[in-house]
Amino acid sequence: MSADTHNNKQPGAVLTALEVMEIDKEISHAPYRSAVAIDALKIVQKYHGWVSDKSLQALADYLDMSAAELDGIATFYSLIYRHPVGEKVISLCDSVTCWIKGYKQLQQHISGRLGVGLGETTGDNQFTFLPAPCLGACDRAPVMMVGDETHVDLTEDKIDRILGADSDNSDGGQA
Ligand code: FES
Repeated sequence: MSADTHNNKQPGAVLTALEVMEIDKEISHAPYRSAVAIDALKIVQKYHGWVSDKSLQALADYLDMSAAELDGIATFYSLIYRHPVGEKVISLCDSVTCWIKGYKQLQQHISGRLGVGLGETTGDNQFTFLPAPCLGACDRAPVMMVGDETHVDLTEDKIDRILGADSDNSDGGQA
């Protein structure tokens, strides 16, 4: 049985009509409202780039959850951002297989290329560089995501090619 999307919930002014419409669509397929928490967080993030405290509270109210409960989910899920991020997020896997296959060297390469450390955003707001837990492609480690795209079998040259098109600090690395 699906959750009722018309149970007199008032989304308030923080969630936009478009967000509410998309969240309601998810709720209509779910057994209960809070079951769509991750999808709803993704919807809010899609329109704002990250999930602010205000958005989190509004979303928690709309999903019949406490803000703390929803924040716990958002914090656990590494691809939900609770702080402002750049236009693209580079998520470099630092779990065991990627670590063994050269994570540290690649992390230093990306940091050197962009001029930022982990957790930082470039001055032009183009990239935020974050560590990520296992991205589910261990057999093709090392792995990173840039925005929604997953990149595997990373080398420094491959990273240069991936970031070359977008990075202001690009050294113009070629295939
Ligand atoms: S350990 Fe990096 S993708 Fe699994």
